[in-house]
Amino acid sequence: MSEQQPAGEVTAPYGTGTASTATPTRKVRTHHLREMKERGERITMLTAYDMYTAATFDEAGIDLLLVGDSASNNVLGNETSLPITVDELLPLTRAVARSVRRAMVVGDLPFGSYQASPEQGYLTAARFMKEGGAHCVKLEGGVEMAPVIERCTRGGIPVMAHIGFTPQSEHTLGGYRVQGRGEASQRLLADALAVQEAGAFAVVMEMVPEVVATEVTAMLTIPTIGIGAGPGCDGQVLVWQDAFGLRTGRMAKFVKQYADVHGVLLDAARSYAEDVKGGTFPGPEHSF
Ligand code: KIV
Repeated sequence: MSEQQPAGEVTAPYGTGTASTATPTRKVRTHHLREMKERGERITMLTAYDMYTAATFDEAGIDLLLVGDSASNNVLGNETSLPITVDELLPLTRAVARSVRRAMVVGDLPFGSYQASPEQGYLTAARFMKEGGAHCVKLEGGVEMAPVIERCTRGGIPVMAHIGFTPQSEHTLGGYRVQGRGEASQRLLADALAVQEAGAFAVVMEMVPEVVATEVTAMLTIPTIGIGAGPGCDGQVLVWQDAFGLRTGRMAKFVKQYADVHGVLLDAARSYAEDVKGGTFPGPEHSF
């Protein structure tokens, strides 16, 4: 074993497919996430849909990068996550997977690409692993999706589940609403247990009351990743355009804004336009 090798990993016996001689980075694996939960160490996850954000978030040490179907309304200009297709999401997944050294890349199965049957789910998930280079997939649903999770896991594909508010079911759930309030908490607990028993390695909980998410987190052995589910989860995820202020306008209550990327880009674009119109760019230093 090489001296630089991360503890617990052995050199791939048949070559890795890359010629890099850089110091090996310890890739985030599903067992690391489980160990983090056991240690009480919080897990970080952000969305990413292209090479530069992926490389930057990876450099920042974000554990999981989700190439979410939210690319539909954050990249492709749709109103919701429903219209995006597998063929549209795969190249974004591939770009992110090519650009990280450490983070685990989560491919998100879009609406209609896995709900028909476990076989459909497996075949779609396999495309995200083979063509997208994802390290695992995420799919929405609890008890009713257990057979799909079970099929994928049996076929060698790690699955992150997503329960609570599931945006692909917006029209069934009656809009963006907190899930698991009052008696509905029993349903959420059943969903959480079902996805764990089916083999999911982690579960996203979206828009769930803090007390319920905390109870689920204590009940499960797999990590929970919250979005609008309070601080009692094992980790947190946000859509980067919301968290870093590329998107403007009304934000969900659970979003904290860490930067004003829209403002930075707006100022830069205005300065550039001013220079071009004023004839000060390009200057001699930019000309041949
Ligand atoms: O697609 C996405 O961005 C998501 C997050 C909201 C978890 O599923």
